[in-house]
Amino acid sequence: MSERVGVLTGGGDCPGLNAVIRAIVRKSLGNYGYEILGLLKGWRGMLEMEYEVLDREKVSGTLHRGGTIIRTSRTNPRNMPDGLDRIIDNAARLKLRALIAIGGEDTLGVANQLYQRGLNVVGVPKTIDNDLEGTDYTFGFDTAVNIAMEAIDRVHTTAESHDRVMVVEVMGRHTGWIALEAGIAGGADVILIPERPFDIEKVCELLTHRHNRGRDFSIVVVAEGARFKADQKGEGTLILQDMEKDAFGHVRLGGIGSILAKEIETRTGFESRVVILGHIQRGGSPTAFDRVLATRFGLGAIDLVYKGEYGKMVALRGNKIVSVPISEAVQKLKTVSDELYKDAEVFFG
Ligand code: F6P
Repeated sequence: MSERVGVLTGGGDCPGLNAVIRAIVRKSLGNYGYEILGLLKGWRGMLEMEYEVLDREKVSGTLHRGGTIIRTSRTNPRNMPDGLDRIIDNAARLKLRALIAIGGEDTLGVANQLYQRGLNVVGVPKTIDNDLEGTDYTFGFDTAVNIAMEAIDRVHTTAESHDRVMVVEVMGRHTGWIALEAGIAGGADVILIPERPFDIEKVCELLTHRHNRGRDFSIVVVAEGARFKADQKGEGTLILQDMEKDAFGHVRLGGIGSILAKEIETRTGFESRVVILGHIQRGGSPTAFDRVLATRFGLGAIDLVYKGEYGKMVALRGNKIVSVPISEAVQKLKTVSDELYKDAEVFFG
């Protein structure tokens, strides 16, 4: 019987997941002879031993498809008293040589703990937020940025026609990577990110300055996790959709854009509107960059399994696929540097 390798996708979905899975399956079958089990719905698949065998047929035609053919969930085994032990037992029952976990900080945090308990784990960094340490880019990010950029381009023409301020709210729970890159690419007049609580008076000044220069419209890009300065409206708190938390303790963000648009209108008198992009940024086909990156990550992950390099995550450094300890990737978030933000600021106002 051929050796078995498990693969799961955890957390929010992300364009390129299927490209990773396809690459793992194709290289396994072509080069190493492993049988690949797709564990269904993230960690839930390992807890319940719900899986399907992924053969060449199953992954055929999936490269360009968004979402994940093995589904995903935010199931957190650490919330169950015996969750991690059950996964280790089930991995033995399924006779897995190793498990490849494709996920962000939460999924890889669990993967790291399992590795410390002796499970053979390999990680693949996934998140549209691009906030994982250890890798220059995560796949899915480029797609999200391109979707947001296209939205900003579209909003531009309507803002211009109506002499309005358009506030575009993008994803980015803890970090402003999407806001920053989509904002630069889309020519935003102000970009607000979680790393830098903003001064609403300064934002209004920038917009007024621009309008005084003869421009009658403006585009403001704001990350969902951005917040007012502590002494201003909202007292520096995050704007939430509701009080519910997911299994990893994350609140549901969203709504800062609407509050900001109202505040800008009241303070400046400029008519303002908001567009909240939400999950549109995570849906649909990956860009060419993400398809290639995800494919290379998949190939790199199965190579790590073959070499027995466990507890490692594939990563992009420059143009090379390397491996880094998962522990390094999950110890802190990769945030937008002051230097990068300063580059964006040149175009503000
Ligand atoms: O972490 C990725 C992400 O898309 C965040 O940017 C966002 O806050 C969150 O997931 C939304 O999660 P959900 O799919 O649970 O609405």
